[in-house]
Amino acid sequence: MRLVNFQFYSSILTFLLLAHVQALYVKPHLERTHSNNLTFINCRSRTNSLINQYSSLILNLQPALRDLSAPSASPAFTAFFKDPNHAPFIRRILQNITTAAPTPAISDRAISPSFVCLDGPTQVNSTEYDTDMYIRCQDPHGPFATTLLESPAEPVITLCPRFFHLPVRLQRSKRACLEVGVQGKLFLSDGLDLIRHQSWVLMHELAHIYLWNTLGSRMDYYNVEQCLSLPSKRTVGNAESYVYYVANVRLGCTLFPSRPHPPRRGIPHHRGPANATVFDSEVQWG
Ligand SMILES: *[C@@H]1O[C@H](CO)[C@@H](O)[C@H](O)[C@H]1NC(C)=O
Ligand SMILES: *[C@@H]1O[C@H](CO)[C@@H](O)[C@H](O)[C@H]1NC(C)=O
Ligand SMILES: *[C@@H]1O[C@H](CO)[C@@H](O)[C@H](O)[C@H]1NC(C)=O
Ligand SMILES: *[C@@H]1O[C@H](CO)[C@@H](O)[C@H](O)[C@H]1NC(C)=O
Repeated sequence: MRLVNFQFYSSILTFLLLAHVQALYVKPHLERTHSNNLTFINCRSRTNSLINQYSSLILNLQPALRDLSAPSASPAFTAFFKDPNHAPFIRRILQNITTAAPTPAISDRAISPSFVCLDGPTQVNSTEYDTDMYIRCQDPHGPFATTLLESPAEPVITLCPRFFHLPVRLQRSKRACLEVGVQGKLFLSDGLDLIRHQSWVLMHELAHIYLWNTLGSRMDYYNVEQCLSLPSKRTVGNAESYVYYVANVRLGCTLFPSRPHPPRRGIPHHRGPANATVFDSEVQWG
């Protein structure tokens, strides 16, 4: 996951931004494994585990795909996306995640996402971050996965060694649903425990790729309260909103804060360990 400090809905701005995109360096001759549409680079003994996490993600997305075809909006949909008119777009994003569809708008030729497992310096460096991505992994408060959208060749997601310390087993019971408190108006936690999971992180990064591809959006609110307070129009650009929605449908959660938050000026400031807001410049947990 990555920090963002702007978003664009305008295709003209997106075009200008893409025109300024600089080259991403991925060391040649690293081991590559292709699986369906995805490519795993330098993942070696981790490749099978990643393929399993991705397969598990596809299965865990199915309840949300069914939910999106239901005649009326579910509580999870209403909480995270608000407007039923968004359903067809959200469905296309989720379908592209499940097929790892190629992204012609990012690349000069249509190409599906790649995951690079970083395990040393000089493997990937980013002109956008002006750094070697492995060095960035050394920051204990830094992200454990980052989507790099600057490459002219392929959309790349880097995975830090710390990514593999995240849980692989998904919680499957309703007991994992986030608890609502404060007179039914707020969740009791920042929500991150629900989504700090390998499959959900893969989904988050893939969502970035398709949201960039279609909306030019790089929005990155993680905190569940931030996601709930986004205006309807903005929810569709925020990668984590998709993860919360899919995870909540998957678990069968039906209880959400009772009232939408009043619209706030600017961005709600986040209180908690992740500290990711569009206006802050510090890096968060990934
Ligand atoms: C899904 O992927 C196809 C290419 O395979 C692309 O044409 C379409 O715009 C994508 N849709 C979304 C919503 O990402
Ligand atoms: C790869 O992407 C294409 C284009 O979206 C899709 O038609 C195809 O089913 C995908 N392959 C797999 C194995 O998902
Ligand atoms: C990126 O890596 C290559 C190869 O290691 C190196 O030649 C180049 O100077 C690096 N660029 C940055 C900005 O670190
Ligand atoms: C969160 O951000 C605030 C304001 O920028 C800062 O003072 C605080 O130290 C940050 N907390 C963490 C855990 O990074």
